[in-house]
Amino acid sequence: MSPINYISHLLLLLLASVCSAKVFNSVGQLPTTEFDFVIVGGGTAGSVLASRLTEVSNFTVLLIEAGPSNANILDSEVPFFWQNLQGSRYDWNFTSVAQPALNNRTLAYARGRVLGGSSSINAMFYTRGSRDDYDRWAKVTGDKGWSWDSLFPYFLKHERLTQPADHHSIVGEYDPAVHGFNGMTFTSLPGFVQEIDPRVIQASSGLGGPFQFNIDQNSGTPLGLTYFQGTIGNGTRSSAATSYLGANVVKRPNLFIVLDTFVTRILPVTQGNSTKPVFNSVEVLVGGNTTVLHAKKELILSAGSIGTPHILLHSGIGDSDELKQLNITPTLNLPSVGKNLTDHGLIDVSWVANTTSIVDLINTNATVRAHFLEQWKETGTGPLGNGFGNNIIWMRLPENSTAISEFGDPSAGVNSPQYEIVIAALGTSSTGDHLVGVGNAIVSTASRGTLSIPSNNPTDAPLIDSRLLSSEIEMVFARESIRSARQFMAAQAWNGYILNELPATANATTDDELDAYIRETVISAWHPVGTAAMSATDAGYGVVDPDLLVKGTTGLRIVDASIMPFVIAGHTQTPVYVIAERAADMIKDTWVF
Ligand SMILES: Cc1cc2nc3c(=O)[nH]c(=O)nc-3n(C[C@H](O)[C@H](O)[C@H](O)COP(=O)(O)OP(=O)(O)OC[C@H]3O[C@@H](n4cnc5c(N)ncnc54)[C@H](O)[C@@H]3O)c2cc1C
Ligand SMILES: *[C@@H]1O[C@H](CO)[C@@H](O)[C@H](O)[C@H]1NC(C)=O
Ligand SMILES: *[C@@H]1O[C@H](CO)[C@@H](O)[C@H](O)[C@H]1NC(C)=O
Ligand SMILES: *[C@@H]1O[C@H](CO)[C@@H](O)[C@H](O)[C@H]1NC(C)=O
Ligand SMILES: *[C@@H]1O[C@H](CO)[C@@H](O)[C@H](O)[C@H]1NC(C)=O
Ligand SMILES: *[C@@H]1O[C@H](CO)[C@@H](O)[C@H](O)[C@H]1NC(C)=O
Ligand SMILES: *[C@@H]1O[C@H](CO)[C@@H](O)[C@H](O)[C@H]1NC(C)=O
Ligand SMILES: *[C@@H]1O[C@H](CO)[C@@H](O)[C@H](O)[C@H]1NC(C)=O
Ligand SMILES: *[C@@H]1O[C@H](CO)[C@@H](O)[C@H](O)[C@H]1NC(C)=O
Ligand SMILES: *[C@@H]1O[C@H](CO)[C@@H](O)[C@H](O)[C@H]1NC(C)=O
Ligand SMILES: *[C@@H]1O[C@H](CO)[C@@H](O)[C@H](O)[C@H]1NC(C)=O
Ligand SMILES: *[C@@H]1O[C@H](CO)[C@@H](O)[C@H](O)[C@H]1NC(C)=O
Repeated sequence: MSPINYISHLLLLLLASVCSAKVFNSVGQLPTTEFDFVIVGGGTAGSVLASRLTEVSNFTVLLIEAGPSNANILDSEVPFFWQNLQGSRYDWNFTSVAQPALNNRTLAYARGRVLGGSSSINAMFYTRGSRDDYDRWAKVTGDKGWSWDSLFPYFLKHERLTQPADHHSIVGEYDPAVHGFNGMTFTSLPGFVQEIDPRVIQASSGLGGPFQFNIDQNSGTPLGLTYFQGTIGNGTRSSAATSYLGANVVKRPNLFIVLDTFVTRILPVTQGNSTKPVFNSVEVLVGGNTTVLHAKKELILSAGSIGTPHILLHSGIGDSDELKQLNITPTLNLPSVGKNLTDHGLIDVSWVANTTSIVDLINTNATVRAHFLEQWKETGTGPLGNGFGNNIIWMRLPENSTAISEFGDPSAGVNSPQYEIVIAALGTSSTGDHLVGVGNAIVSTASRGTLSIPSNNPTDAPLIDSRLLSSEIEMVFARESIRSARQFMAAQAWNGYILNELPATANATTDDELDAYIRETVISAWHPVGTAAMSATDAGYGVVDPDLLVKGTTGLRIVDASIMPFVIAGHTQTPVYVIAERAADMIKDTWVF
């Protein structure tokens, strides 16, 4: 560092330490336009990086988020209200293009647009996937550091497992040996016992086989019936913003957070005679104008699986021929940008129950709802402090299945589930019946979609073509997930409680009938990944190297869900946290030691 730079660096830290506001609502309020690190996207990964990098007191870090603060959003704090956040002002409100495999339906594509990103609006499932998922990452990237065993310490570093809100004994419901108790994000087992829970456990032991109880879904071997674990502490959502950007972090003099600021592009500079473009500037919208901010050490994109490729493409980073057609000047030819988008499909099947559950009452009776909200506000307990369902079954087809020999197995290995069944007390049907709902997610996929842009205007929404369920093997998984759910709900434990499957699906028994239902009703399970995928350093495809640096340039890293080379067989927030924790160490290794 030159003496002048050093002095300005010290002045910035000094200035920052006397400023009370550390969170700014416009770039005009920032004390400078130059930082060591500029992170684009204050979401799940971006919050982790901002937190970890500012542990080094002589780094200055700017975190840029398009959305507002996460503070005081009741729907984001109360776990039961998570579904209210879709289509709200904290959602980007994306929609997919028409899906040919789904009768040309378009799908809603919720993404968090608020500090904490999607972790501030998601369903809080805490699932790591299987050890095979990460071992496949290590294999395809040639970097053992991405294997389950190597990443294991990062799972623990991220997690702070706490007692559930109702303080029931969780002995026998999880394996303490595989959990972190001193990390950043609170996790817990269900904090409110649902009426159906004892029957779920009885059904599991009665049926055995693939429904057999597995003490912990997060041990690396998730198959079987397991207890839900959620990113919830004291009955309250624990997001990347509440955990990694707590008051003690935000007050650090070297951290600058700017909200309500939309990044349009990243800009290259020509350095010396280098043929490699170097991207170290960020263009943001301010009113109708743009302004530019600079990174002295690294620029990091953490705008998520939709936002990151969107920004790359508008910056000329992508397939040069495709970009020229949109009148965008290519800056770096990386044809894999936006390709290989992978997502999970979610299918609901419901049964009529001979009961009036609490969930029904919360949804239908304002007095009951107000009562439970009061309870939650006072103690964090009760049904509103709980997640969507208390048990999950992770399943595979039998290994000798003819479908597998015919179509191949897209899963990462025998420990990876192909589909997931979540059992939940749901509420009331339009005909007034009380329901037990089963959510089936297809978690191993062969379909690949794309993320592209319609024009050279960065404020136009991107084109999301997820191609959900466009491979035959996923349709097999989808049908089998419904058949497995039926098998589970037919267990003796449900006698007298489950009356019948709702007519919408009850008559669908043949493959064709099931397919018709699936194609007409499947939605995105909100797990898009792979649009800026990591590949081996010498691979002829991919967007980032195993150190997450963008191929063909220097100083530009991508750290978010878009870099996953394959989706894990689980929900995607936990791998994002772990990717970001490892990335923070990589970045510190580059610049500190
Ligand atoms: C409704 C829903 C439910 C889900 N449920 C679960 C679940 O239960 N369990 C689970 O594990 N996973 C779940 N997921 C998925 C999980 O939350 C995501 O995979 C994960 O949070 C993604 O992290 P990320 O850092 O890649 O992106 P995000 O957390 O989405 O962060 C990206 C951030 O970048 C910002 N941004 C984007 N573009 C720009 C721009 N141009 N300028 C400035 N800022 C920008 C966004 O506003 C956002 O804050 C769910 C997701 C959704 C949407
Ligand atoms: C999403 O749509 C809803 C309903 O139209 C709207 O209220 C909300 O502001 C939108 N979100 C954003 C970020 O624009
Ligand atoms: C979907 O749209 C395409 C193009 O418009 C059309 O060819 C096709 O028949 C449609 N498919 C269905 C199932 O409607
Ligand atoms: C829960 O709340 C109690 C009392 O306010 C507090 O001591 C404890 O640290 C909290 N735990 C979590 C996980 O937030
Ligand atoms: C650029 O190339 C010229 C001619 O090859 C050389 O003299 C000069 O030193 C180079 N400059 C830099 C900064 O590398
Ligand atoms: C945009 O720039 C123009 C020209 O410099 C200026 O007059 C205008 O006030 C700016 N608008 C905003 C919102 O900053
Ligand atoms: C998509 O991913 C596969 C590996 O799963 C790879 O072989 C292929 O080249 C990728 N395609 C693009 C365009 O990156
Ligand atoms: C709502 O619940 C309250 C409290 O249990 C009860 O007194 C009331 O009758 C219920 N209202 C309706 C419309 O069912
Ligand atoms: C698969 O194996 C099971 C038990 O080993 C057997 O009952 C079944 O018939 C086999 N299925 C096929 C398709 O081979
Ligand atoms: C419904 O439950 C009641 C007891 O709560 C039981 O008497 C009745 O037989 C059940 N109905 C059916 C159809 O199983
Ligand atoms: C389901 O099948 C039954 C018996 O065949 C029939 O009465 C009923 O109308 C069918 N329901 C639907 C929704 O197709
Ligand atoms: C920052 O501090 C670390 C030790 O904490 C030191 O190794 C490093 O050289 C410093 N970097 C700068 C740019 O001052």
